[in-house]
Amino acid sequence: MVTFCDDVLAGLQLPQKSIPSKYFYDRRGSELFEEICNLKEYYIFSSEVEILTARAPELTQVTGRKCNLIELGSGSSVKTKFLLDQLESGSAYVPVDVSQELLEEVTRDLRLTYPELKIHPVAGDFCSSLGHLAEACDKRLGNALFFPGSTIGNFNPDSAEDILRRCRELAGKNGFMIIGVDLVKTKSVLEAAYNDSRGVTAAFNLNLLTRMNEELSACFDLSTFQHSAFFNEKESRIEMHLVSLNSQTIPIAGQQVHFDRDETIHTENSYKYRPEDFIKLAQKCGFSAHLGWTDSKGYFSVFILSSSSE
Ligand code: SAH
Ligand code: AVI
Repeated sequence: MVTFCDDVLAGLQLPQKSIPSKYFYDRRGSELFEEICNLKEYYIFSSEVEILTARAPELTQVTGRKCNLIELGSGSSVKTKFLLDQLESGSAYVPVDVSQELLEEVTRDLRLTYPELKIHPVAGDFCSSLGHLAEACDKRLGNALFFPGSTIGNFNPDSAEDILRRCRELAGKNGFMIIGVDLVKTKSVLEAAYNDSRGVTAAFNLNLLTRMNEELSACFDLSTFQHSAFFNEKESRIEMHLVSLNSQTIPIAGQQVHFDRDETIHTENSYKYRPEDFIKLAQKCGFSAHLGWTDSKGYFSVFILSSSSE
């Protein structure tokens, strides 16, 4: 298994230093993400909730009210409750997340709220576990995947295609996938969402340094790095970086890693789609039908993709 230490040391040797964004979500990182969702600038949360509130009955009518609901990157499962409220007893919920502690806590709470629901949490990276998730499902029921939050946007186009193909496989012949996709919009709205006035996103980004200090015996001085987030129009993505304010050499897991002044660690991409491009991608990955809804501001879309050939 590739560890946090392996990924950090490999990523910091690249010409453009980078660390996979899944490492944001330690205990503190997951808490900060929850705070981000409450920020007025971070429209992603409120836009998706608006759509799910209005469409949950329709969505679950399509998937069938008795199904295996498999969620990729379930986090606090707050948005899932809109769907779970509609499901019939005998349904199963399979939340998958790298944040094990949060997953366990959320599972405990959900078991109290939904005693009739079978819950099979899977801790780990959904990129590596997608092939095995069928084992956690009730074979007698159809599969519906739920991939909210525009987490698909955190993957580059090749990886997104690979994940969607594997989701199509897991959905099976007559399955479904409900997916949240953030849309291209004006640069000012996009950049404000990742540069909030309270500095919560900056703290979320900088927490990666704290995590390396705590788990890899690194010696980052957080005051010597700065959060940076901007819209890269050519790539249609928000990029987040941590900028070194000095020339400095940092011990990390027994190695010395040098940073030039203004050199950055690329910590996250968040791709923004045009609806027609996302639909094309989904079709390329074997999903054959779709319905989609957008929030009242036109910022965010939720699609339900079908894997059946009709
Ligand atoms: N679905 C929630 C949370 C989105 S935040 C929502 O829409 O609000 C992204 C979540 O995905 C986090 O909980 C994070 O821990 C998880 N995550 C990110 N990359 C992951 C990966 N590769 N495998 C599993 N979980 C991942
Ligand atoms: C989880 N993911 C879709 C979020 C995003 O918008 O890319 C993570 C995040 N990064 C900064 N703010 C929120």
